[in-house]
Amino acid sequence: MSMQNIWSVQTEAPALGKLSERFDIDLVAGAMGARVGGLDVSSLDDEGVSELRGLLHQFKAVMLNDQRADLDVAAYAEFGRRLGPLATDPYVDPIFPEQPEVMGLVREANDSAYNFGGDWHSDGSYLEEPGGLTVLWSRDVPPVGGDTLFSNLELAWHMLSPTFKDMLASRRCIHAATGYGASVDAPKKGDYSPESFAPELQRIEAVHPIKRTHPETGAHSLYVNQAYTTQIEGCTPDESAGILKFLFDWSASPAMTARFSWQPNSILIWDNRNTAHYAIGDYGGHRREMYRLAVTGEKPV
Ligand code: SIN
Repeated sequence: MSMQNIWSVQTEAPALGKLSERFDIDLVAGAMGARVGGLDVSSLDDEGVSELRGLLHQFKAVMLNDQRADLDVAAYAEFGRRLGPLATDPYVDPIFPEQPEVMGLVREANDSAYNFGGDWHSDGSYLEEPGGLTVLWSRDVPPVGGDTLFSNLELAWHMLSPTFKDMLASRRCIHAATGYGASVDAPKKGDYSPESFAPELQRIEAVHPIKRTHPETGAHSLYVNQAYTTQIEGCTPDESAGILKFLFDWSASPAMTARFSWQPNSILIWDNRNTAHYAIGDYGGHRREMYRLAVTGEKPV
C-alpha cells in the first residue's frame, strides 16, 4: 500500500487546552490519542467535564490513568452519565442489575473464543443511531498484550485526494451486525461468522453516509469500518468490495493510528463518530476484565 503524503497534515504541535494547567497530559501518537494523569473521575467538576469534551474533540480517544482502586460500578456509571445519556444493550444480560448500562468484557485466562472487538470497528455502526462515545474501565489487565488500537477517521477522510472525496461524498454504505468478513475478502472469524449470530441480530442493519459530519465540531470522517460495513449502496458486490478493501486498508495505515496500552484502573473514552478501534487478543493465558459504557449517539449525517 502506498503511504502518499500521509504525514503532511501534521504541521505543528497541537495545543493542549486548559486541562493541561490542572493535569498531566501526554499525547499517544501524532494521529490521535491523549493520556491524562491525575484526573479523578469521581471528583471532576463541571468545568473539568466540559474541558474533557474539548480534549475528546481534539484527540478523539482519551485515557484517564490512575483512577481510585475503590471506584465502584455505580460511581463509574455516574461518571458516564455526565458525558451523556447511557444506552443499554438489548442483546446482553446485565451483570449488575442495579447498573444495567454497564457491560462486562471479561476474558478468562483459558478462554479460546475470538476476543470481543478483535477487528476494526466503530461501535454499533449497524444501528440507525450508533453510539456516540464509548467508555472502557480496566480492572484487571494482562502483564503484556491486550492493547486497543485506534484509527483517526477524520484524518483518513482528510488525506484522500479531492477526486476520491468527490466520488464518495454523496454515497452511503450498508452496515450490518453480521458484517464480520461477510462481504469483503476477509477471513470469517470464529464467533463472528454470520451463521453464529442470533436471528434477531441478523436483521440489524443501517445505511449511513460515507462522509460523516461530526455533530459538535462539523469535521468530516470516512465513516466505514471493516467489521460492519458490508456494501456501498448502488454498487455491485464486486465493485463495492474493491473500493471498501482500499478504504479499510487506508484507514488502518500506521500513520493514522494510535495504540493504547492498559494498566489497571484506567478509563478510556473514545468517539465512535470519527474513529475505529481494534482490541488485540494477544494475551492468551492471562485474564482481562473491563467494563464498558455506551453514551448514546445520533443518526449519522
Ligand atoms: C471494544 O471493542 O469495544 C472493546 C475494546 C477493548 O476491549 O479493548
